[in-house]
Amino acid sequence: MKVLITGGAGFIGSHLADHLLERGCEVWVIDDLSSGSLDNLHPHPRLHVVIDSVTNEAVMNELTHRVDHVYHLAAVVGVRLVVESPVRTLEVNLRGTEVVLKLAHRFGKRVLLASTSEVYGRQGENRPLSEDGERIYGPTTVGRWSYAAAKAIDEFLGLAYHRERGLEVVIPRFFNTVGPRQTGRYGMVIPRFVEAALAGAPIIVHGDGSQRRSFTYVGDAVQAITRLMAAPQAVGEVINVGSGAQISILELAHLVREMVGSDSEIRTVSYEEAYGPGFEDMRFRQPCTRKLERLAGFCPRVPLEAILRQVIDHASRPMLEAAS
Ligand SMILES: NC(=O)c1ccc[n+]([C@@H]2O[C@H](COP(=O)([O-])OP(=O)(O)OC[C@H]3O[C@@H](n4cnc5c(N)ncnc54)[C@H](O)[C@@H]3O)[C@@H](O)[C@H]2O)c1
Repeated sequence: MKVLITGGAGFIGSHLADHLLERGCEVWVIDDLSSGSLDNLHPHPRLHVVIDSVTNEAVMNELTHRVDHVYHLAAVVGVRLVVESPVRTLEVNLRGTEVVLKLAHRFGKRVLLASTSEVYGRQGENRPLSEDGERIYGPTTVGRWSYAAAKAIDEFLGLAYHRERGLEVVIPRFFNTVGPRQTGRYGMVIPRFVEAALAGAPIIVHGDGSQRRSFTYVGDAVQAITRLMAAPQAVGEVINVGSGAQISILELAHLVREMVGSDSEIRTVSYEEAYGPGFEDMRFRQPCTRKLERLAGFCPRVPLEAILRQVIDHASRPMLEAAS
């Protein structure tokens, strides 16, 4: 199988590349390295890396016609980037998907569009979110909703291509996916907490920390999406990819501090202080995983403590190397 991964030098994309190479696939990656890194990719005779933008239609045309499947993961991701680069967020997240869908349709290739639990918006109740549930967004003056809105349009466009033009499209909604190689630079909570705890710096919790999240191990997410791409019944479907287990962000901060053996202070700061005026967050984000179980025959299984152990070991490595 020949596969194209857009955003393949990123966190999820690079783990997906490893997995597909292990299974004997020939893998093409296109990435502009805006948030990804070549350090995430190990050289391999069946791995080909193109440093360019997914919005470059000529290059994408060439790559799409060579492969059997396209995994479209390239996007501007992370609350901090979305708030600080709103134009690029919308341009890449809308235009990139348009290019991918148009070319996948032109060459008749099955395509996976990476969507997000952000699409559910501002959910006030603590209950598992199912794919056909309501979406509740804040106003357009609150920049963070632009990411959710763009990803929702991507879903609409993917489903429209499927219904009207017969394109084979699979749309996973990732819930907080975590593991080694994820960077804390753009606001991702687990790498931020681990880096702070290892450095003995304050662990900064946004808001009062009572917001709850479900964390999914990246290896489980990769298993889930490759199974979905192989399942004819997943074509034309939106599917939650996440773990049902929940934890509050304050509890997470304590757990990270305890597992690192750190004496870092845990400090709460307001959303306004962290992201500027008018920022909104969602209180809960827990997936209903029934559809994933039914279509992929799989459910994320790696517990949070095991994920944190891997992230801590990965983040400690450069420090141990520097010390030896
Ligand atoms: N990690 C999560 O928790 C999570 C949750 C929900 C959805 N997602 C989705 O999964 C996908 C992958 O996210 P990730 O966590 O690996 O983030 P990431 O930032 O590590 O990966 C995104 C990759 O896309 C690349 N990229 C950005 N703009 C590009 C462009 N114009 N052309 C080519 N490449 C470009 C970046 O350099 C990066 O390598 C994204 O579509 C994201 O929206 C991730």
